[in-house]
Amino acid sequence: MVQEFDKVGVVGLGTMGAGIAEVFARAGFNVVGVEIDQAALDRGRGHVDKSLTRAVDKGKITEDERAAIDARLTFSTSREDLSDVDFVVEAVPERMDIKRDVFGDLDRICAPGTILATNTSSLSVTEIAALTDRPEKVVGLHFFNPAPVMKLAEVVTTVSTSAETVDVVTEVAKRVGKTPITIADRGGFVANALLVPYINDAIRLYERRIATREEIDEAVKKAAGLPMGPLTLADLVGLDVCLAVMDVLWNEFHDPRYSASPLLRRMVAAGRLGRKTGGGFYTSA
Ligand code: CAA
Repeated sequence: MVQEFDKVGVVGLGTMGAGIAEVFARAGFNVVGVEIDQAALDRGRGHVDKSLTRAVDKGKITEDERAAIDARLTFSTSREDLSDVDFVVEAVPERMDIKRDVFGDLDRICAPGTILATNTSSLSVTEIAALTDRPEKVVGLHFFNPAPVMKLAEVVTTVSTSAETVDVVTEVAKRVGKTPITIADRGGFVANALLVPYINDAIRLYERRIATREEIDEAVKKAAGLPMGPLTLADLVGLDVCLAVMDVLWNEFHDPRYSASPLLRRMVAAGRLGRKTGGGFYTSA
């Protein structure tokens, strides 16, 4: 079944979508990357170009392999160009009104057999599946940032997802080099339900002036052997994404452990979202 897959659509080419498009193209799939307008498309293509250039510079792929990957990637501002794809991953902003618009179009444009996967990290996959007339073919496929590097893929199922869809998506995740785990839809799934409250706790230490941001990050790196500290990680993930996950956990469980730090909320309100806006807890280039 999966062997027949050839053409994959990726809707939304922000940090995650561009990384996901790259992951599929590097694994040998033909990829159609779709964005809302030319400026967003150019930014998305720029993300992929930068990442592939880095891979060439580090000797991970040759120039010829890069040319083959580039040849497998096409870009478009029209969702209609997804009419002949076998599989779609959606990675648009985390707003249900935007998901509704995208999934309404995908349901109309894509063949009835096409599986529609969402990379959402904070919305309910069940609610997204219910936006379509094919809920048995809608599933979460949640990648981690940076998508080309991180090995986990969460396959998130709903009460409507068919066993065949789960099998196919699990196989696809393996084929792109990820380790899939299957999870029933719930706030935060597994990884974010653990990771984001930990980031939130670090922000609380920082806002109470318990230690500097560098000391907090260094403490965790040195104590737990993690590659980056929680405040650096917050900037990488995006403070808006962290806040969205915290709010989803709070709304679902009403547990005080899940109340977002006031500083996190204010930084998002101020538009300091992390690396993607040039700065969060740290200023980035
Ligand atoms: N795209 C592609 N490749 C990248 C990359 C990117 N954006 N960033 C780093 N890499 C690659 C590098 O090319 C390098 O590859 P090699 O080892 O093969 O040479 C490797 O990753 C390590 O990179 P660097 O040496 O430049 O830097 P580093 O050692 O500091 O690693 C890191 C960078 C991979 C990001 C590492 O710090 C790390 O693993 N951090 C933790 C990231 C993490 O926890 N992500 C999960 C966030 S949660 C999430 O995403 C879910 C959600 O829904 C919120």
